[in-house]
Amino acid sequence: MELIFRPRRLRRQATLRKMVQETHLRREDFIYPMFVAPGQGVRQAVDAMPGVCRLSVDQLLKEAREVADLGLPAVLLFGLPQKKDETGSEAAAPKGAVQQAVRRLKKEVPALLVITDVCLCGYTSHGHCGLIQGGEVDNDATLEALAQVALSHAEAGADMVAPSDMMDGRVGAIREALDERGFEMLPIMSYAVKYASSFYGPFREAAECAPAFGDRRAYQMDPANAREALKEAALDVEEGADILMVKPALPYLDIVAQLAGEFDLPIAAYQVSGEYAMIKAAAQKGWLNEEAVMLESLTSIKRAGADLILTYFAKQAAALLK
Ligand code: PBG
Repeated sequence: MELIFRPRRLRRQATLRKMVQETHLRREDFIYPMFVAPGQGVRQAVDAMPGVCRLSVDQLLKEAREVADLGLPAVLLFGLPQKKDETGSEAAAPKGAVQQAVRRLKKEVPALLVITDVCLCGYTSHGHCGLIQGGEVDNDATLEALAQVALSHAEAGADMVAPSDMMDGRVGAIREALDERGFEMLPIMSYAVKYASSFYGPFREAAECAPAFGDRRAYQMDPANAREALKEAALDVEEGADILMVKPALPYLDIVAQLAGEFDLPIAAYQVSGEYAMIKAAAQKGWLNEEAVMLESLTSIKRAGADLILTYFAKQAAALLK
């Protein structure tokens, strides 16, 4: 009789399936992004991101305790200013919402690792990620501003900084500034490969950072490019990045896999607001099973090679994995 190989032999029993399962999600894999707003008692829901709110520091602390109690290791903070201006000056303010949140979190929820997003777009009146000169984002002028933002986060006590602006040379500029001020042990998680993606739509509502003119294609990557992603990642490694991030996640799993194969640094993937919104919306309509699709997409991101996943589903996933 002809011998046929039968992969189904290992799929017949739940116990055996579990034994041969290759990818496992852990609560420690997740980083939960949060939005810090100025003021007191602020809790503003973000329409296209059910379950996500902009929170003032007092409210953020409450939710952060919940995050820690769920066994999640880390949060990523995005800030909103009191007032936006041309240069995004409040981004580096020692008393800014993010800086205050970091200080309080490190004191009151010490188990939680606090990562801060370093960018200007939430703070500039024009909504771009850098300083505008002659109608476009001036790369080199922006570097110094970003270094100041990163330093202000470090001084507040952040455990890691995560530049998301996509200026050339920013990891190096931030590394140098941190080292000069005695923060040589503070790691940088670089948004090394960040695409100019339409999946960021809901986030721009949350951070009120949609560009007032033009778009971000002059600094974020073209979704059509893969080899360029390897170049971007290599540059960030040279400049001193400690963790490389790919963003968005699910539509770019090929890039996640390539980076995981090429580089020996930990790889993070950001399941962005639009990815979250799609699952939430379909689930609300009863068109998809939310929990199952959430776990499947997170598993896929990890299977592709991500060591860390930034996701608005972190709390929900952690509760299921407990
Ligand atoms: C800003 C920033 C964005 C996101 C993270 N940092 C938006 C953008 O680049 O327009 C997107 C996150 C998400 O969609 O969840 N530099």
